[in-house]
Amino acid sequence: MTTAEDLKERVAEFPYWYHRIELPDGVVTPGWAPLNRDMYRIPADLTGKSVLDVGAWDGYWTFEALRRGARRVLAVDDFSDFLSSLAETDRRGWATFDFCRDALGYGQDRCQRQEMSVYDIGAERLGRFDVVFFFGTLYHLRHPLLALELLSAVCDAEIFVESAILDDYSPYRGGLGQGYSGGQMLAEFYPDNQYGNNHSNWWVPTLHCLAHMVRAAGFDDVQAWKLTDKPTRVTQCRGFARGSKTNPRAGPPETPPGGASADPGEARRGRHR
Ligand SMILES: C[S@@+](CC[C@H](N)C(=O)[O-])C[C@H]1O[C@@H](n2cnc3c(N)ncnc32)[C@H](O)[C@@H]1O
Repeated sequence: MTTAEDLKERVAEFPYWYHRIELPDGVVTPGWAPLNRDMYRIPADLTGKSVLDVGAWDGYWTFEALRRGARRVLAVDDFSDFLSSLAETDRRGWATFDFCRDALGYGQDRCQRQEMSVYDIGAERLGRFDVVFFFGTLYHLRHPLLALELLSAVCDAEIFVESAILDDYSPYRGGLGQGYSGGQMLAEFYPDNQYGNNHSNWWVPTLHCLAHMVRAAGFDDVQAWKLTDKPTRVTQCRGFARGSKTNPRAGPPETPPGGASADPGEARRGRHR
């Protein structure tokens, strides 16, 4: 039997952890990712749901979905990010994910993973999902709206999106405290490493823009909120959007966008159809 000491030793053999994942016997992986998970407002009960976790990395949210009762979770990652700075020797692909899956005792019937880009996601290849998680990945993409559309095309009910946002931070406007706090509809483009000194960051939207991107991708009921009210560090300048569909098979709307709420509790169901 694996003891806590064995488990700890095996965790320590990995050179790098992004997530802090609670394993049996009180062992926690030593990741640093600043998750403010209560602010994500993910349903406590996902019983029976199929979930797609895009940009899963070590798998914190995959295992969280399973812990909340999901019937099946597919984790997808292309491992293109790694914060743009992780040494080749410290990269382990799915090894940390597989290690946690085994330690937590999930079988491959419920917990699957696939190395692929979000741009290759499609129903023919992967099937359809009730719920999509898309955390910390949108701003790493050159084509964020295309990615949201592809995710909408495989999603029957709800998408949850977490992203860097511009409301309290803009590198072009002077940094922290110099963002766009007036509900502007815009995204900044970073052709080099302007955002976080990270070459894998491309686009960061305002919260308002993020909400409308999710709606433009085919989710007609959208709510969005900041994860930290008054951020004091760039890593806290993050926003969250939850989109749901009244018509499960809906794709991107053909009519031009009308509006989406970027304030909690102000979703306008069906208003833009
Ligand atoms: C900042 S991490 C976020 C990890 C996790 N979702 C979370 O929020 O804690 C971004 C992840 O997205 C992945 N990623 C970046 N571009 C991607 C793409 N085109 N397709 C799939 N995954 C991608 C990266 O490899 C990385 O694991």
